[in-house]
Amino acid sequence: MELLLSIEDLRVYFYRPEGVLKAVDGLSYRLYKGEVLGIVGESGSGKSVSVLSILRLLPANGRIVSGSIIFDGKDILNLSREELRDLRGKDIGIVFQDPMSSLNPVITIGQQVMEPLLWHNLCSRSEAYERAKEMLGLVGIPLPEERMKEYPFQFSGGMRQRVMIALALICRPKLLIADEPTTSLDVTIQAQIIRLLKRMKEEFGMSVILITHNLALTTNFCDRLIIMYAGNMMETGRTKDILYNPSHPYTKSLLDAVPDIEVDKELIPIPGTIPNLIDPPSGCRFHPRCPNTMDICKEEAPPLFDIDTDHYSACWLYRRA
Ligand SMILES: Nc1ncnc2c1ncn2[C@@H]1O[C@H](COP(=O)(O)OP(=O)(O)OP(=O)(O)O)[C@@H](O)[C@H]1O
Ligand SMILES: [Mg+2]
Repeated sequence: MELLLSIEDLRVYFYRPEGVLKAVDGLSYRLYKGEVLGIVGESGSGKSVSVLSILRLLPANGRIVSGSIIFDGKDILNLSREELRDLRGKDIGIVFQDPMSSLNPVITIGQQVMEPLLWHNLCSRSEAYERAKEMLGLVGIPLPEERMKEYPFQFSGGMRQRVMIALALICRPKLLIADEPTTSLDVTIQAQIIRLLKRMKEEFGMSVILITHNLALTTNFCDRLIIMYAGNMMETGRTKDILYNPSHPYTKSLLDAVPDIEVDKELIPIPGTIPNLIDPPSGCRFHPRCPNTMDICKEEAPPLFDIDTDHYSACWLYRRA
């Protein structure tokens, strides 16, 4: 498989009055062409910050302090302003959690979906109109030509998210980043949106990064998963290996917290709260909440240990004697 994105030892810090917050602290991973990667973890684990870094879209007090990000052969941390502009929306499309705040309330849906094509000078106005109409049809908006004349408030939440997906895909990006794309939607609509993303992935063949805190959404869509906690990768592997053979105690507790329709199982919330990232716990950042804590966990951060083929776990339980 051909490599599309390679992130090495990424560290992203926020400078706050109380101190330096280490939001992402030594993250490395690779994404191949045509692959769907899920990034899963509780709120505040650094999922959004890690993908916003790929687009260099961090807030003013956030800084990439070290590491490298290579996308499609380009060194993202050394791009010019023009190259970054091409990257955003053209090579990489992004869909956020709340489609209402990402759409402009006073511009018609049609114009908004045409906009990236015109902004990046990819085609004429009339061609942009045709492509927008076609794309809105593809994402499941009935009567796209009529609906192009309407405004965001005339669309339901699920339909607005379909529009956002059309917008993100209109320039045929190499990578689609979907950051909690279904969190603000009803459960039934959530499944429809994931199915749509899957269909679009099959249609256009791009790579996808899906960010979610709901492991259940990854099952039929993601090829591989990264489990994040407090700015660190805890476990990574093929989706089925992580879901059916989880190794890290944090992954196991995430799975225990997922509702399961088949089995009448008891939901066990993870005890404790996400740590303060200005003064994180020593050693393994999960040790204060972990049911398997040993002495070494408090002292030294674990490296990634080999579990199986393409399956790694940052947990001292897997240290070989
Ligand atoms: N602008 C900011 N200033 C200071 N700290 C920030 C800022 N943005 C994010 N952070 C901090 O960085 C850490 C990681 O945040 P991030 O948004 O990546 O989490 P997340 O995993 O995406 O969570 P969620 O599931 O809630 O979206 C958090 O501790 C958060 O408080
Ligand atoms: Mg987030």
